[in-house]
Amino acid sequence: MTPPQGSRLQGKVAVVTGASPNIGGALASGLAAHGARVLCADLSEEVARASAQRIEDAGGEAFALAGDVTDPEHAEQVVAEAVRRWGKVDVLVNNAVFFHQQGVLDMNHETFRRQLDVILVGSFLFTRAAARSMISTGTEGSIINVLSTAGWQGQPGNVGYSTGKAGLINFTRSVAMELAEHGIRVNGFTPTATAPTDPEARAAMDALLSRPSRNRNDYAAQLPLGRLPTPEDYVGAVVFLASDESAMVTGTSITVDGGATAKYWPWTPHPA
Ligand SMILES: NC(=O)c1ccc[n+]([C@@H]2O[C@H](COP(=O)([O-])OP(=O)(O)OC[C@H]3O[C@@H](n4cnc5c(N)ncnc54)[C@H](O)[C@@H]3O)[C@@H](O)[C@H]2O)c1
Repeated sequence: MTPPQGSRLQGKVAVVTGASPNIGGALASGLAAHGARVLCADLSEEVARASAQRIEDAGGEAFALAGDVTDPEHAEQVVAEAVRRWGKVDVLVNNAVFFHQQGVLDMNHETFRRQLDVILVGSFLFTRAAARSMISTGTEGSIINVLSTAGWQGQPGNVGYSTGKAGLINFTRSVAMELAEHGIRVNGFTPTATAPTDPEARAAMDALLSRPSRNRNDYAAQLPLGRLPTPEDYVGAVVFLASDESAMVTGTSITVDGGATAKYWPWTPHPA
């Protein structure tokens, strides 16, 4: 599904971390489709470039930079490059993630630490760099932290991810309070298990979900709206948070999860 085009972000400059062809790339393209110039950042140079290329192919303006979100110099470099090219940063989307589904009994501590580093330290470093820049350019910007329903609820067998995303919820509130006096808004955006747009990635996800597991992964059947959201389903909420339409929204989260987290636990919406 092609996201709607528009000019709600005309004149704005956005930075998106973890710009994979899945959610980060869709958000980057969605922001660009609404008029933002977008700096696509990723650990992989190929991924960052492909994301920027998709935006340019669609008639937008983008630039790619590769680096590790846990590297303070990378965060500074990305923000500095956006400012050098386009004069400021209005929007930051902290989206990069290191998925590693393991539970507390099996997880080694280096992997746990690395997951928290990518999710929390990466968001901290990019938020700090972007907020300092917004203040110095007098930009009343919007910072959007990509959360997960796994951060609001207890997911078994995914301890690093769930813990990191839960931490990001209160990071969002805390930073929102601190930056309010500068007119900078900080919000979460909560997606849930997502059907990837790319057919290969979708097949990989289907295989993962159908793998025998101690922790039953009955995602689609549990969703009140009956299907997994796609990355494109997320664009509207993120464009809203990035735009001036949400000028009075800060320290909160918008959830796009097909009703998953509102569901009363014993209820099966789509019984077999
Ligand atoms: N896919 C889902 O089902 C789902 C569900 C809920 C929330 N989310 C959230 O949505 C966001 C995007 O998820 P996705 O499925 O598109 O992920 P993805 O794995 O497709 O993309 C993540 C990107 O982050 C990059 N990355 C990893 N480590 C990095 C690092 N250290 N520095 C810079 N970049 C790094 C990867 O190269 C990759 O391109 C994440 O924050 C994730 O937690 C995803």
